[in-house]
Amino acid sequence: MALERRGDGPSACLPGVGRFLAVLAAGCVGGRIGEMGTGVGVGAAWMASAMPVDCRLVTVELDPVRVAAARRVFADDERVEVVHGDSFDELQRRAPFDLVFVDGGRSDRAVELLRIGGRLVFDDVTPVEALPADSPYRTNDPKRDFFFTDPRLVATEVVLPDLRNSLLVGTRVR
Ligand SMILES: C[S@@+](CC[C@H](N)C(=O)[O-])C[C@H]1O[C@@H](n2cnc3c(N)ncnc32)[C@H](O)[C@@H]1O
Repeated sequence: MALERRGDGPSACLPGVGRFLAVLAAGCVGGRIGEMGTGVGVGAAWMASAMPVDCRLVTVELDPVRVAAARRVFADDERVEVVHGDSFDELQRRAPFDLVFVDGGRSDRAVELLRIGGRLVFDDVTPVEALPADSPYRTNDPKRDFFFTDPRLVATEVVLPDLRNSLLVGTRVR
C-alpha cells in the first residue's frame, strides 16, 4: 500500500507518534495539553499515561460515537476531558496550551492555541525519501509549508523509526 497520503488518515496515531507525544507530555508539569481529533483516544492515552499528575488534557472529537468510546477510556482519569465539538473552536475557548496535537479539524490557526514556548505536533507526514519519485509532495507539501514558513514557529521534521512516517513539531516563539 502506498503511504504517500492516507485519505482522512488513520483513526489512531502510530505507536511512534504516541511515544513522541508521551515524551512531550511528560514535560508538561502543571501544564495543559490539547488534542484536535480524539478518535477513540489512542493518542490521548499515550499522553495521559506520561503526563504529570498536575497536568490536564482536553481532547476534542466531532463524532459522537468516538466521543463516547473515549469517555469510557478516561472515565477514571479526572485529568482528561473529552469534549464533543469542533476541535479548533473548543480548544480556542480553553487556550493557551503547552502542547497541541493536531490530528483532526482545521489546522491553519493551530498556532494561536499555544502559549509562547508551547509545542505543536502534526503527524501523517511521509518523509521525502519515502515518497515515490514523481510525488508532488517532494516539492510542494502544504503541511511542511505551513510549519516551515510560519514566523511564530521554530520547527523541524522528525522521522519515525520505521523510516516511512514522520511528524512535524514546532515551538511557538512569538
Ligand atoms: C486521525 S483521527 C484522530 C486519532 C487520534 N488523535 C489518535 O491519536 O488516536 C482524526 C479524528 O478527527 C476527527 N475530526 C475531524 N474533524 C474534526 C473537527 N473539526 N473537530 C473535531 N474532530 C474532528 C475525526 O472524526 C477523527 O476521529
